[in-house]
Amino acid sequence: MRTLLRAVIDPELGDNIVDLGMAGDIRIADGTVTIGVKLTIRGCPLRAQIQKDIRARLEVHPWVRKVKINWGEMTAEERSAVMTRARWNARESATDTAVPVGARVLAVASGKGGVGKSSVTVNLAAALAAQGMTVGVLDADIWGFSIPRMLNMPDRLQAERVEGRDKPMIIPNERSIESGLLRVVSTGMLVDDEGTALMWRGLMLTKAVEQFLNDVHWGDLDFLLIDMPPGTGDVQMGLARMLPRTDLLIVTTPAVSAQKVAIRAADMARRSFLRIAGVIENMSTFTCAHGEDYALFGEGGGRALAEEIGVELLGQIPIEPAVAAGGDAGEPVVLSGTGAAAAEFTRIAALIIAETPDATEMSGCSARTDSDAVGVTVRRGS
Ligand SMILES: Nc1ncnc2c1ncn2[C@@H]1O[C@H](COP(=O)(O)OP(=O)(O)OP(=O)(O)O)[C@@H](O)[C@H]1O
Ligand SMILES: [Mg+2]
Repeated sequence: MRTLLRAVIDPELGDNIVDLGMAGDIRIADGTVTIGVKLTIRGCPLRAQIQKDIRARLEVHPWVRKVKINWGEMTAEERSAVMTRARWNARESATDTAVPVGARVLAVASGKGGVGKSSVTVNLAAALAAQGMTVGVLDADIWGFSIPRMLNMPDRLQAERVEGRDKPMIIPNERSIESGLLRVVSTGMLVDDEGTALMWRGLMLTKAVEQFLNDVHWGDLDFLLIDMPPGTGDVQMGLARMLPRTDLLIVTTPAVSAQKVAIRAADMARRSFLRIAGVIENMSTFTCAHGEDYALFGEGGGRALAEEIGVELLGQIPIEPAVAAGGDAGEPVVLSGTGAAAAEFTRIAALIIAETPDATEMSGCSARTDSDAVGVTVRRGS
């Protein structure tokens, strides 16, 4: 019976219900098979599908006349064991991307638009670079890109032949920041000549992101920051499939209503098995010139969200006109600002480096070389 049940796959988790630990007790009496099945959550939308598959598999057995299913729900521990397994499977079956294996991938996401994802992306990227890191920035906001302007990098992207690849690869635009480096791609940097324009026209969102993941010659990277489009859905699911080692940084505003929306982003992360690296609260308390604090967008949303999803609140960026002005001028506030927002971005970047073991080793080390092979990193001396 168990062997037959191994053919029943949970489509969401991508593995069979026996190895996932969903199939429990099996009893057979008088041609009736009674089987206990634990769902990850009680209201699992896949229940009907799983039921149909179990019946179809078991009823082929000559002794089986009837199949009865007792539905149950997993405990928190069982659920987390299943998630670990599914994450592992996703990792194993993910196709190779051109993103170097040593790079830590962080996608900056939120439940709704306009909360400061792009501002957080460029400032964290700049802060990481200022601390000696080589940082890739992938603008996954394909139609609503803002990264080229916010980093003052309007140049068109070039494509080049790269050894070991049969088609030309996109070369990211570079900007040096102190001892570090930014390597940036965005649809806002695409040449508008006929051929290239054609290449992108009509592409689905996820297809475009996939192209950035597969066809960019990133070289050596310590971090890859992905600026997510507003909303979640497709792109996040696509990332989970193509680059399952992506960690999410969830940006929220201090308002409790925003926090509720951000929980949806966290739920989506869970369903796509992406790890959440932490929460960043943006547009926190505004301090006026006289030193008085105003909680313009409410208070406590970031901490409440972090607690609710069980991750760290990495920081709180205050509202500061300099953040917006820096974005408009293409000079992230973290590079020139002297205020609290700049200091907070620097602190969060240091925190991220500290919890990324490889990056800690490489911090301040300039003796890195690109290997010829795409996606392979050779590091010498540290
Ligand atoms: N801490 C801050 N203080 C002041 N202004 C800010 C702050 N953070 C972001 N802004 C401003 O708020 C606006 C929205 O920010 P941003 O574009 O980064 O959000 P987003 O989440 O990327 O938006 P979208 O969902 O449209 O991509 C911008 O004008 C930006 O300059
Ligand atoms: Mg944005």
